[in-house]
Amino acid sequence: MGKIIAIANQKGGVGKTTTSINLSAGLAYLGKKVLMVDFDPQGNASQGIGANKKKHDSTVYEVLLGDIKAKDAVVKLKIPPCAVIPANINLAGADLEMAEFKVGREKLLRNKLIEIKDDYDFIIIDCPPSLGLLNTNALTAADSVIIPVQCEYYALEGLTQLLSTIRLVQRLFNPALTIEGVLLTMFDARTKLSVEVQQEVRKYFKERVYKSYIPRNIKLSEAPSREQTIFEYEVRSEGAKAYASLAKEVINSSQKEAAKA
Ligand SMILES: Nc1ncnc2c1ncn2[C@@H]1O[C@H](COP(=O)(O)OP(=O)(O)OP(=O)(O)O)[C@@H](O)[C@H]1O
Ligand SMILES: [Mg+2]
Repeated sequence: MGKIIAIANQKGGVGKTTTSINLSAGLAYLGKKVLMVDFDPQGNASQGIGANKKKHDSTVYEVLLGDIKAKDAVVKLKIPPCAVIPANINLAGADLEMAEFKVGREKLLRNKLIEIKDDYDFIIIDCPPSLGLLNTNALTAADSVIIPVQCEYYALEGLTQLLSTIRLVQRLFNPALTIEGVLLTMFDARTKLSVEVQQEVRKYFKERVYKSYIPRNIKLSEAPSREQTIFEYEVRSEGAKAYASLAKEVINSSQKEAAKA
């Protein structure tokens, strides 16, 4: 059965999209069937993974609020070997449109993804930097959430808000939602601050923090402008090694869970 993982943190620029793209590609190159859902009106994930080369009739917006089935909005890529439901600026209006719905507005994405969940091993949702209805929809659709945390000052600020949103979604819409893991991003071993933030995050989240961490790596920031994942752009980079290691960790923990179930 497929697993839906939301990559969420309402804080901007912490590495959600970089993680969505490269974790999706990493899992796909390890032989998993992967769908990446771009759920941010900025459309950075669609662009960065190379899914925006064609004009799309259907994006995640039409899936969310129109009659379009999720499977009909899927763009299949050859490189990396994964599927994408793209997003564009149309999604920016979705929050307001959904607000007018009296009931069921939190489950719109969930209801659409359920139909294709079993076609994939992993569905990765790139969330926008906000805590509005888009994020609630992603968390309601997801089995679990990965929280990227940038290794910088104020890293933990805002996490309390995210955690209480997660608890609220658990209580009201999705009791089975779990925290898949906390991912340290843009780690710079040369700075004392990065080391301190890492220690603090590990102290707070304990074993829920991934052993793999993502170093600050220029190649990771260059790859999207070529519409490539790190594995095509520079497979020998530290960034590629880190995301490959994360993908393995995600697979291992899912296998352990499946064995327990
Ligand atoms: N490990 C890294 N090393 C160097 N640069 C990085 C790394 N991770 C992300 N970046 C760069 O930092 C910026 C923010 O990353 P990204 O877009 O992934 O964050 P985000 O959380 O998705 O942002 P937003 O909240 O706007 O959606 C981008 O320019 C990206 O290329
Ligand atoms: Mg983003």
